[in-house]
Amino acid sequence: MDGSDAPEQSHLNEFLADVVDGLSKPQKTLACRWLYDEAGSDLFEQITELPEYYPTRTEISILNQHADEIVSALGDDALLIEYGAGASTKTRILLDNLNAIAGYVPIDVSEAFLLYTAETLRRDYPKLDVFPVVGNFMAEIDLPELPSGQRVGFFPGSTIGNLSDDEIESFLNGARSLLGDDSRFLIGVDLRKSPDILVPAYDDAAGVTAAFNLNLLRRINSELDANFDLTCFTHEVRWNDEASRIEMHLVSICDQDITIADQSFHFSAGETIHTENSRKFSIETLTPVFEKTGWTITNLWSDPGNLFAVLLLTAE
Ligand code: AVJ
Repeated sequence: MDGSDAPEQSHLNEFLADVVDGLSKPQKTLACRWLYDEAGSDLFEQITELPEYYPTRTEISILNQHADEIVSALGDDALLIEYGAGASTKTRILLDNLNAIAGYVPIDVSEAFLLYTAETLRRDYPKLDVFPVVGNFMAEIDLPELPSGQRVGFFPGSTIGNLSDDEIESFLNGARSLLGDDSRFLIGVDLRKSPDILVPAYDDAAGVTAAFNLNLLRRINSELDANFDLTCFTHEVRWNDEASRIEMHLVSICDQDITIADQSFHFSAGETIHTENSRKFSIETLTPVFEKTGWTITNLWSDPGNLFAVLLLTAE
């Protein structure tokens, strides 16, 4: 990476407005998309390698195990559009198994990471046409001029689990219109399971997830002129059974006042900032929202332990 990820003013205004808004709520919150600056993206890549963090390796094993069936369902003319591409590790499994492909369109908020990934893919797949798009996949996405082909959305990693019901619905509606008639959508979802497996996956022994969570405060300090003391907050993970989700929080360990761009925020001892939801799904609860947004599940691949599922949706 070239380190030229200097935040622009419009991004800083949006970041500040979002932070001020979230920290003004009774339950303080920070939107999880801000976790992924360059340092956060690097920490997340480390999380995916942790022994406790089963989702990435399980999804990769499903993709490898069923690669033949998956690529034959996609055809030889796929224009692969990936939402929140990150390091594109899973995309490589598809690329390695597809006979031919019309092009690859990675969409990601982190420009430096996106351009780095695009470069390494072009190097490793010299015949592949890569069209990187900088953007937040929850917002309206402007696609560049693209070759024709069977549009296939790719949304691995159970990133859908970060979204609320309303956000899932609007995301799926948006994908349905961006991808168009006759399109496909390959999507990874983490399944409901025992908290004995879930909690350690988000509270690892090496403390990488804690560093990932706390990095958000470091980012606010450096980009928004704030004075969070990172030793006065701790990482906490909760399994919310009713909502079927893992929650990440940052707990204030004492009474303290924080200044962010001249505004003051009070934290009582034990008060938390809710920084992420990671929902764990059952297929039965997802099916109605797919149907409502114009998608049908045509294939489902899972691992022997039923930890994770890869779904192929078809536009109706
Ligand atoms: C990238 C959203 C899928 O929810 O499992 C990992 C993010 N947060 N550890 C997840 C995450 C803490 C991850 N997703």
